[in-house]
Amino acid sequence: MLVIIKENYQQMSIEAARQVASLIRKKPDCVIGFATGSTPLGLYKELIRMHKEEGLDFSKVVSFNLDEYVGLPPNHPESYHYFMGENLFKHININPTNVHIPMGMAEDIDAFCEWYEQKIIEHGGIDLQILGIGSNGHIAFNEPGSSLGSRTRIKTLNENTRLDNSRFFNSMDEVPKYAITMGVGTIMEAKRLLLLANGVKKADAIKATVEGPIMAKFPATIVQLHRYATVIVDKEAASKLE
Ligand code: F6R
Repeated sequence: MLVIIKENYQQMSIEAARQVASLIRKKPDCVIGFATGSTPLGLYKELIRMHKEEGLDFSKVVSFNLDEYVGLPPNHPESYHYFMGENLFKHININPTNVHIPMGMAEDIDAFCEWYEQKIIEHGGIDLQILGIGSNGHIAFNEPGSSLGSRTRIKTLNENTRLDNSRFFNSMDEVPKYAITMGVGTIMEAKRLLLLANGVKKADAIKATVEGPIMAKFPATIVQLHRYATVIVDKEAASKLE
């Protein structure tokens, strides 16, 4: 695992964008796994800048998102479909038919999850998976206790995560209770992982991820076993590392 410590959030985002752009230039039809949340916003802003000012071409890029809330339609402002459209996809030239995001409104969620896994395989697997991390150690919505071999499936969100995410909703009651998420095993099959974290609120999570014992109670620790995992953090998130 390679840990890169950057001065601040902006430098972290620029370094991540540099790595994503370098893959796209080398392999224009690469498969990228995207994450939502606050952490990758700076990365997406920089990718948009690179597209507009440097002609970074997304026309052949295929994308798979990590997760989506169950029960929110794609046009709901807090859905991850909406988030990706607003914060990245509508500003770049990605082909909408190449975009894959779990369908929170799927009638048969189990069948959808199997289809999603199959689609990833059909596209030759994910070349680079972008990850954020929850303060409780979740990656995607694989909450503490998730099986380290898990696949794409429906998960109950724990109260800690619902509380973290309630800042985007009017009240706790509106925060969805379930999500569809790629599994830990699905994520670990990506050829490269790029885990980002910033701010002092993530310092304990980063310490556990980089230095702690590997355990299902803290799913992000599995990243230690990936052959090509890069963790890019700002100084605050790195502040508790030995
Ligand atoms: C989102 C996701 C989540 C977030 C995590 C951190 O697609 O998979 O695991 O990465 O909750 O969220 P932020 O970046 O908002 O701190």
